[in-house]
Amino acid sequence: MPYMRKIRSFVLREGRLTKGQQNALDNHWPVYGLAYQASPLNLPEVFGRSAPVVLEIGFGMGKSLVEMAKNAPEQDFIGIEVHKPGVGACLGDAAAAELSNLRVFEHDAVEVLKDSIADTSLSTVQLFFPDPWHKKRHHKRRIVQADFVQLLRQKLQIGGVFHMATDWQNYAEHMLQVMQAAPGFSNLSASNDYVERPEQRPLTKFEQRGQRLGHGVWDLMFERIN
Ligand SMILES: C[S@@+](CC[C@H](N)C(=O)[O-])C[C@H]1O[C@@H](n2cnc3c(N)ncnc32)[C@H](O)[C@@H]1O
Repeated sequence: MPYMRKIRSFVLREGRLTKGQQNALDNHWPVYGLAYQASPLNLPEVFGRSAPVVLEIGFGMGKSLVEMAKNAPEQDFIGIEVHKPGVGACLGDAAAAELSNLRVFEHDAVEVLKDSIADTSLSTVQLFFPDPWHKKRHHKRRIVQADFVQLLRQKLQIGGVFHMATDWQNYAEHMLQVMQAAPGFSNLSASNDYVERPEQRPLTKFEQRGQRLGHGVWDLMFERIN
């Protein structure tokens, strides 16, 4: 394993939990929660079947993750988020939708990927609107970096896809630069840069608002080719 940075892509805010989020954590964590572990999980055992596994990094409140899991019952979904209120919100929505194809980690995604996820076990990794770290001196905190994308490559099956989206042009350009220099990936964009928003990525309120205000959103999709 190449050297992994200790600089983290998040600053943990001790956000207050609503009653609903606390209840969801109390009642549904035993069903949906996965604990970080130092050796890879057996995913077919976790889900009780062998199906393509989609992993989402930093799902926020989990709205798009839950919707995607609802829309694709033939696939299994793993979400990773460090923000507890978001994990609670996601569990509440997952239980309300009676999902059986979703599991959630409350942990640093870099550590989970490195240790708890087996190599070549993922069909898709998605990273939607990661913290952009606007200031130049903070760019090193951006999660998309050369060593991180090689870790993802190792976890994706050959033919698996890494899908990113951002509303921050400078981060989109950074993503493109990192991916163009990354061995083992092929850009799925016909123009060799960005792709149209794929239908399976739910349009969030935040994004709709951005569209009304004329803000851009950039989607990038890269396939693991070797
Ligand atoms: C700007 S928010 C976007 C949330 C969501 N994807 C959306 O589109 O609404 C970025 C999220 O990534 C989470 N995050 C950042 N670094 C992470 C890491 N290393 N592991 C897990 N979650 C992380 C943050 O806690 C935050 O909730």
